[in-house]
Amino acid sequence: MSFIINRKKNTAHEMGKKLDMNNIPKHVAIIMDGNGRWAKKRGFIRTLGHRAGMEAVKRVVRASCEIGIKYLTLYAFSTENWKRPAEEVNGLMDLLIEYLGREINELNENDVKLNFIGDLSKIPEKCKIKIKESEEITKNNKGLTLNIALNYGGRNEIVNAVKKIGKSLLDGKIKLNDIDEQIIADNLYTAGQPDPDLIIRPSGELRISNFMLWQSAYSELWFSDILWPDFDKNHLLEAIIDYQKRNRRFGGI
Ligand code: FPP
Repeated sequence: MSFIINRKKNTAHEMGKKLDMNNIPKHVAIIMDGNGRWAKKRGFIRTLGHRAGMEAVKRVVRASCEIGIKYLTLYAFSTENWKRPAEEVNGLMDLLIEYLGREINELNENDVKLNFIGDLSKIPEKCKIKIKESEEITKNNKGLTLNIALNYGGRNEIVNAVKKIGKSLLDGKIKLNDIDEQIIADNLYTAGQPDPDLIIRPSGELRISNFMLWQSAYSELWFSDILWPDFDKNHLLEAIIDYQKRNRRFGGI
């Protein structure tokens, strides 16, 4: 079942009052969508939409730290996004380098641990260097784990896990009957992390788009018609307040 929530004119303060601090989702994952449409509406090139999207990333990361979310996963670049014009792809990689360069100190001071998920082998070298550097700087942080999904695809992630498990099987490290859900989860990019409690997709699209296919088995979904560059703390709070009203049964009654 899906829900479209239209933005209400509540202030962050009013929304904050409705938030149950004892039921904050541990893991929130976001499909950041609508940058291109945001830019088009203003007559801008798409890259400017992504730049405005980066400002929304900053707002949402700050808000996530404030309310005590433990894991935040942001879908920054999918395995399918290589189909976009080279100029846009390069613009996105450069933006990521800029984000890490500008934000790493604030992220580190706020105890944020950066973690990139996806097939990073295909990412440009200059970007990989910045990724490794920022993961290294923040590796001992204990606050929010910020997963940035880059060249990420849920199917690719499962194929990758199956290959790793297959190798363990061929090497005689495990037996066929050892393969269970836990072994699969342990071989995903998100190994050791809880599944997302809440998946948010702005921009009016009602699909999962190859995002966290295994991990989303029991995630609550929240859709909104807001475009990602306009997304702010209020929208995050609105999604979480809505999540807190849901009755999660995990297949039980
Ligand atoms: C989808 O919108 C968005 C992306 C493919 C890129 C998301 C990237 C950012 C927000 C840039 C900054 C990221 C970080 C982590 C610093 P779209 O371009 O498909 O929008 P459209 O559907 O309106 O065309």
